[in-house]
Amino acid sequence: MSPKAPRCYRPLVAAHRVASFDPLLSPAVGASMVRLCERYGAYGMYSEEPTFAGLGEGLPARYDAVRNFLRTGGRFGRSEPHAVLVARTNYFRETYAYGDEVRIAGIEPFLRHEGFVEAARALYGRPVIVPAIVYANLLVPGQELAVHTDVPEFRGISRKTHPQWLIVVMHHSGLFAEWRMPIATGVAWFHDCAGGDFVFYPDGPQAPPDAHPVRSNTALLLDTDSVFHGVDRVDERERPLTPLWPGMRLAALGDGRWQVLDGERPVAEYRWEELRFSISWKAYCFADEAERRGWREHQADLSVASVLDRLLADLAARGVIRGTRPSEAELPDLLIDTYVRYPAPVRAA
Ligand SMILES: [Fe+2]
Repeated sequence: MSPKAPRCYRPLVAAHRVASFDPLLSPAVGASMVRLCERYGAYGMYSEEPTFAGLGEGLPARYDAVRNFLRTGGRFGRSEPHAVLVARTNYFRETYAYGDEVRIAGIEPFLRHEGFVEAARALYGRPVIVPAIVYANLLVPGQELAVHTDVPEFRGISRKTHPQWLIVVMHHSGLFAEWRMPIATGVAWFHDCAGGDFVFYPDGPQAPPDAHPVRSNTALLLDTDSVFHGVDRVDERERPLTPLWPGMRLAALGDGRWQVLDGERPVAEYRWEELRFSISWKAYCFADEAERRGWREHQADLSVASVLDRLLADLAARGVIRGTRPSEAELPDLLIDTYVRYPAPVRAA
């Protein structure tokens, strides 16, 4: 069976295009993604992403999203101890493919999914689509993913070399649009999950969000660098959140059993049905081959010094700073508060 063409998700009212796939893959290939997840074995925590020397040294990679989550208590503004909130959003991630490098056999139909390529072309009207990465996220009961926008990429500025929160700020500032490399993101699910809805704001952060329940063999494709999104709490009524901290791993034991490990020490055990699993696909979207070549050859790259100069000039023009340059310790908060406009929390029903 060939997968259905994607439908355009609320194209007339949404500020951002969102393509929806149901089903994404044939039933057999869709089912193989669950086996692939188990076969991969062990998943580390995303919070262990590297940070960089210089501006914001020592801050978490996604300082922007973590800070907002801890301040607001998440989408529903829940008041919980700091350690609990940290455990809620310390989820697990591993990379299945990076560029052309396939890190686990069997991911190819997902990496090269033609429907994703077609929808990515339509997203920005850019015909040259180059898949960049495929990765999996795993959440255990009680975990959630703080509302955020993904880390975009600019010529010369990427997450490999510069702080992720700064790159997010760059995009929200709108000051570097001509250097941005548009990226399309497909998010797919291959089982049904209680809770853990994918919540996103296609009409902007001030408008009500949409909640997409996790249903097997479905996917959405959108500009997650611009559209705020997050994951609602995975159902924890039967299994309240386990205390989790950076450095833990989630490992498959076989037969649908999974274990959280702190070093070699087991911390918690779950059945597959209790977890939330998603696979994400990201692709660069180029206007033409010349643009792709220019990006690869680092023509007209930005430097981080020029980025900071421009941001500081804009802060001054807005009256946010006067006279002396803020210290490196003050600057991250100032930049995030000036440019990133998060959706306001709502009260839980
Ligand atoms: Fe995201």
